[in-house]
Amino acid sequence: MTSVLALSGSLRAQSFNTRMLHALPSLAPDGLMVNVFNVADLPLYNQDDDADVLPDSAARLRAAVAAADGVVIATPEYNHSFSAVAKNFIDWASRPFAAGPLLKKPVMLIAAGPGPSGGAHALEATGTLMTLLGCPIVASVGVASAHEKINDEGRIIDENLAQDLRAGLAGFLKK
Ligand SMILES: Cc1cc2nc3c(=O)[nH]c(=O)nc-3n(C[C@H](O)[C@H](O)[C@H](O)COP(=O)(O)O)c2cc1C
Repeated sequence: MTSVLALSGSLRAQSFNTRMLHALPSLAPDGLMVNVFNVADLPLYNQDDDADVLPDSAARLRAAVAAADGVVIATPEYNHSFSAVAKNFIDWASRPFAAGPLLKKPVMLIAAGPGPSGGAHALEATGTLMTLLGCPIVASVGVASAHEKINDEGRIIDENLAQDLRAGLAGFLKK
């Protein structure tokens, strides 16, 4: 079984990005398991805390990324880039230097928002960063008008989007 860890760059209770991630298990192909990891209690990265004994949530994040075959990152667009929450979990999972569990891990990127651009700048900025970290980009899915594509129960109601997400997840099984 291939497993991927799904991380949201939004802490908002009704976040479109987090809801997208919770919809992924129902869209995953046979042989792929998607686990959503909650980063709400991850502290802001502080190199002083990046010591032998890590904050518990940072240790759990690193262990979960290390155990996964790939990572899905869904981030809102904040001020034409990805969110600070996303940068924070990326920073934690990118260390120790040159040996962080995120480095070179295949990633699928999602940027969802209610606007017409689908978080295009966030998607592009996240893609640039992950490429610099050596991560192959398995798929990149922008979700414009997100409020019309996922319902309050967290089900994807736009078939084109569901198909894009299915195809993206299937990319983790290739190679
Ligand atoms: C601080 C802040 C900055 C934002 N900047 C942008 C932006 O540059 N472009 C955009 O399309 N939406 C922007 N938005 C709108 C968010 O992308 C939108 O609220 C989105 O739904 C947040 O993601 P979430 O639903 O996963 O929490 C911004 C929102 C906030 C709170």
